[in-house]
Amino acid sequence: MLNQRSILALVSSISCFRALNPSLSVAGKTRQSCYTSTEKNFSFNNKYCISTIIQTRGMHEKARCAIYPLKGQADPVKRFTVPNDKVEWSVEWTDYSPLEFTAPFVLTAVWADPPLDKKDFSPSWNSLDEKVNRKSHEGDYKIQDGRPLNPHGRTGLSGRGILGRWGPNHAADPVVTRWQRDGAGSQILNTDSGLPVLEFVCIERGDGGGWAIPGGMVDPGEKVATALKREFMEEAMDSTQASSEENAENSALVDKFFSEGTEVYKGYVDDPRNTDNSWMETVVMSFHDSTGDSVGKLKLKAGDDAKNLKWMAIDDTLTLYASHKAFVKKVAELLKAHW
Ligand code: BGC
Repeated sequence: MLNQRSILALVSSISCFRALNPSLSVAGKTRQSCYTSTEKNFSFNNKYCISTIIQTRGMHEKARCAIYPLKGQADPVKRFTVPNDKVEWSVEWTDYSPLEFTAPFVLTAVWADPPLDKKDFSPSWNSLDEKVNRKSHEGDYKIQDGRPLNPHGRTGLSGRGILGRWGPNHAADPVVTRWQRDGAGSQILNTDSGLPVLEFVCIERGDGGGWAIPGGMVDPGEKVATALKREFMEEAMDSTQASSEENAENSALVDKFFSEGTEVYKGYVDDPRNTDNSWMETVVMSFHDSTGDSVGKLKLKAGDDAKNLKWMAIDDTLTLYASHKAFVKKVAELLKAHW
């Protein structure tokens, strides 16, 4: 078995990977850092993914963006165009011939699956495969020619793109909210809707992905609840740089605050990284502080993959990473807040 030090040494030896991942040496972050590094290969430029339709269920849009989000590629990776009426796998389409693409750094990454034809690699689909969760939140996915099939249909690209896992790649997203208040402490009501305005802890991603929920990938063997807390503490409380005393104090506060939450979404994410054989899924939890007292105690500071942090007012004008706007909208609905 590789211990953490040897994993770090192994990863460090992969130079292209290392260049993409400056924070790799942070102890305890091996897999997470690796996953995040894949995100650094995005191009978030709107010319790549101009879809403004945010859908978390139903027909995927971002997962069919014309140019696959990969930075530093001389020749863009182009998706085979999939019209709406050909998205469903059940619709026969003999001319469908998507490009097969898995980023070279994925092929050498310790955090990623090996190629499917690798000797001794026989993943157990639709199940917990040792520590790797290959179950979809949406029920059993199909396997065709030995490969998992995207449950939301064709994407115009086969292989794994920049995702590590064949099949579902699991993330977790904590939406931490409080009511917006005036100087006297009274809730602020929106003048149009008459509803109270919510604010949520929002981070700016260091990879150019813009403002986002401080979420991230669930590590192998990790519980979703643990990933929610870990990601929040890394990105919104700078836990990778904080002292162990600060972390112990923060951890206790977050444990208390996260002990009551409401799941607002669980399932497939319409993410531009998705392919026919690899896709993102997430669990989104709402953690609301109705008095503002609990979150007031949290020492918020952008850290790890986040470069900025703020309490962001929630309404329909938000522009957020991937499908995060749809997730935040669900929280506003849950809490009967202004949208
Ligand atoms: C992000 C999550 C996001 C998921 C799906 C992950 O890389 O960290 O916040 O929900 O991708 O887009």
